[in-house]
Amino acid sequence: MREFNIILAMDAARGIGKKGSLPWHLPGELKHFKNVTTQVDDPQKKNAVIMGRKTWESIPEKFRPLPERFNIILSRNPDFVSPGGVLVFDNFERSLEFLDSSGCRKNIEKVFVIGGAQIVTEAVKHPLCQRIYLTHLQKRYDCDVFFPDFESRFDSVSQGEVVQEEQERYYFAEYEPRK
Ligand SMILES: NC(=O)c1ccc[n+]([C@@H]2O[C@H](COP(=O)([O-])OP(=O)(O)OC[C@H]3O[C@@H](n4cnc5c(N)ncnc54)[C@H](OP(=O)(O)O)[C@@H]3O)[C@@H](O)[C@H]2O)c1
Repeated sequence: MREFNIILAMDAARGIGKKGSLPWHLPGELKHFKNVTTQVDDPQKKNAVIMGRKTWESIPEKFRPLPERFNIILSRNPDFVSPGGVLVFDNFERSLEFLDSSGCRKNIEKVFVIGGAQIVTEAVKHPLCQRIYLTHLQKRYDCDVFFPDFESRFDSVSQGEVVQEEQERYYFAEYEPRK
């Protein structure tokens, strides 16, 4: 199976979303997401992003599939129609097995789980989760989905400076499994 990373943003109460979308609008934070998930050492390769069906639907149609990345959607609904060029798996483990195939190893450099709460709750418990990229927003939003506990298994390895954007302040942090 293939090792992977997680990347998300959460508010001061661990909230990550409301009514199927993001409760905040922070272009600088989205740019960070794009940079981390598209950056590759080998220009012949791309990274993969794995997301839950609801997160896929939360992305405006004109912005999906996320460009320059290999998009994978998780859905257990056999009637969910795979959008052109996007793979759908009904099981997280199977998506990691697929990404471990020699063809994927050759073409895909890194794998990122990008949400939402359902997928991340499974992903933070997985032994192949190597790193969590988490943006900490300092305000609280009225969210209905939350980032799960991960602190019992992960340690902070990096914490950036606080960034001010519009009325929000946030910082980028990275976590790795405790040795
Ligand atoms: N703050 C952030 O960085 C961030 C990032 C991403 C998303 N979000 C927010 O998070 C919210 C969406 O999160 P969510 O938890 O409601 O939904 P989600 O995790 O995006 O998607 C849930 C759906 O994924 C499928 N699924 C879940 N686990 C699966 C598994 N193990 N195998 C196969 N399919 C599986 C199911 O689809 P079917 O029902 O089709 O079977 C399930 O209904 C939105 O508000 C979004 O804006 C925030």
